[in-house]
Amino acid sequence: MTLFDQIFDPEIRPAIRVVTGDPRIERSPGLPDEETALRRASECRRREFRTGRALAREAMGALGIAPAAIPAAHDRSPMWPEGIAGSVTHCDDLCAAVVARKADGILSIGLDVEPAEPLDPDLIPEICVDEERRWLATLPASRCGLFARTVFSAKECAYKCQYPLSHTLLDFHAMRISIDISRGSFEASFNRDVAPFRTGDTLPGRFAIDSCHIVTATALTANAFASGYLRRQGESHDAPVRCG
Ligand SMILES: CC(C)(COP(=O)(O)OP(=O)(O)OC[C@H]1O[C@@H](n2cnc3c(N)ncnc32)[C@H](O)[C@@H]1OP(=O)(O)O)[C@@H](O)C(=O)NCCC(=O)NCCS
Repeated sequence: MTLFDQIFDPEIRPAIRVVTGDPRIERSPGLPDEETALRRASECRRREFRTGRALAREAMGALGIAPAAIPAAHDRSPMWPEGIAGSVTHCDDLCAAVVARKADGILSIGLDVEPAEPLDPDLIPEICVDEERRWLATLPASRCGLFARTVFSAKECAYKCQYPLSHTLLDFHAMRISIDISRGSFEASFNRDVAPFRTGDTLPGRFAIDSCHIVTATALTANAFASGYLRRQGESHDAPVRCG
């Protein structure tokens, strides 16, 4: 069993493919539209970028999708082929890519990998809102730093998931993460309106931790998005957000 086997909810797992690899391995150049992003890149950056693209194409292949370029936009976000949702992440020794077809009801995906090391305490005020800091303070001191890093990872993964819809760069206080340790799940809630999302909208996610890595993942389904299910129960809203 790997960290990624149960990182997406069982209902959507059949529609999703995750492929992992080692970003330190030399890779042959990717497709021409992708390589333009690497003009001034270091060797290390070339390897991780090419690994991410190669793994994404492997994941697309596993879903029966023909190989296609995934260029980087000017803001560095991946430009997935029409009809495809995906996400790429890498740390020093692990790279992962996840892909799904939008026709299978997956609008957007976020995936993040971090080393399983405590977050630098000096970064906590920048990363965590008061509610998250209060929750971290309830944990045994030995686990606080690791879960602060998990909050950080969950925010990065939720950021990647919301970006294809909002095209908005968010600071770390724009979202609030609530972690359920026993379930290996979290909720990422918007602390402010970020169209098309509104304050209180919540992306569901899962996390997994082993001795080396923290992995977080979230997927936005078309059903949840179209039905307004993203809204927290009990909140009143004018109208549900609609896809497209
Ligand atoms: C984009 C970002 C989240 C990437 O995280 P990271 O830990 O630096 O790196 P990761 O390896 O996990 O992910 C990098 C990959 O994310 C993807 N990515 C970059 N920008 C992205 C965006 N705007 N939307 C979606 N995916 C993006 C790319 O595929 C990139 O890999 P590549 O350049 O090789 O293709 C991070 O650099 C960033 O800008 N964070 C600030 C915004 C944020 O996280 N706010 C929190 C809101 S609560």
